Amino acid sequence: MSAGAVRWTWPLPPREWSLEPGEVHVWCADLDQLAAVLPAAALSADERERERRIRVPQVRTRFAAGRGWLRERLARYLGTDPARIEFGRGPGGKPKLASGGALHFNLSHAGAVALLAVSRVGELGVDVEAVDAHRDLEELAERTCTARERELLRGAAPDERPALFHRLWTRKEAFGKATGAGLASDPRRIAAGDPAPAVAPTPLAGTPGWVQDLWPCAGHAGALVVLGRPERVTAFAAPVPDLDAGLGILPADPPS
Ligand SMILES: CC(C)(COP(=O)(O)OP(=O)(O)OC[C@H]1O[C@@H](n2cnc3c(N)ncnc32)[C@H](O)[C@@H]1OP(=O)(O)O)[C@@H](O)C(=O)NCCC(=O)NCCS
Repeated sequence: MSAGAVRWTWPLPPREWSLEPGEVHVWCADLDQLAAVLPAAALSADERERERRIRVPQVRTRFAAGRGWLRERLARYLGTDPARIEFGRGPGGKPKLASGGALHFNLSHAGAVALLAVSRVGELGVDVEAVDAHRDLEELAERTCTARERELLRGAAPDERPALFHRLWTRKEAFGKATGAGLASDPRRIAAGDPAPAVAPTPLAGTPGWVQDLWPCAGHAGALVVLGRPERVTAFAAPVPDLDAGLGILPADPPS
């Protein structure tokens, strides 16, 4: 997705905002827009080294923008300078704050689209994927879905299958990212729960997780899983300095 092409379904935040104890914030951003405006100096030597090793220029630029954005957003919550944030690794290599503390976060990107979830409720995972209607969903479902989920997919109208598959898939990824295990284990062993759109935090059966589906922009599906019960999920399009006029905010899409 090229710069300026993403049209968010989420609003910009009010001028003053803060994270309430039971709340989860989910931010969306266009990494191509951010790459043009974020100062590069905030990244650590490790992040610079990771950036240097990425061969594809667009992927490299987006990685650096994602890390710069993560630092910029977390710095707002912590009241510090982006360059002063130090990251450690939790289970499965999941990034966390080296300083410890109760602020949990998780980042996901799909092309230029990035989501960042932040909360003090508990560990969380977020995932965003481009909905690809042309992929062989049957074959993918065979490798990733439970028998019940495959049955649901077969029973869905053909034009609804891609959205349903990606809803199930992003929930599985978000759950794996909440625990830190990612999808290192067989995704068929993670049940994605009730297939109806979760427009508010909903228990993820058989797990300590609460799930909410996310629709940040057209053509993309996302999910948030929190290991703990959030009272509320608030979604914002991240302000991009000097580029706010180009963000193209739209009213929220009804879930499909
Ligand atoms: C982690 C994982 C779920 C990422 O999924 P993805 O769809 O490729 O990528 P996403 O864009 O959604 O997420 C990437 C971000 O998740 C975060 N992340 C990395 N490892 C993570 C983990 N174990 N758990 C949760 N989040 C993780 C990072 O912020 C990363 O961003 P970065 O690339 O800018 O550093 C996937 O790589 C995976 O399943 N890994 C397996 C984990 C594993 O094998 N661990 C055992 C090794 S000890």
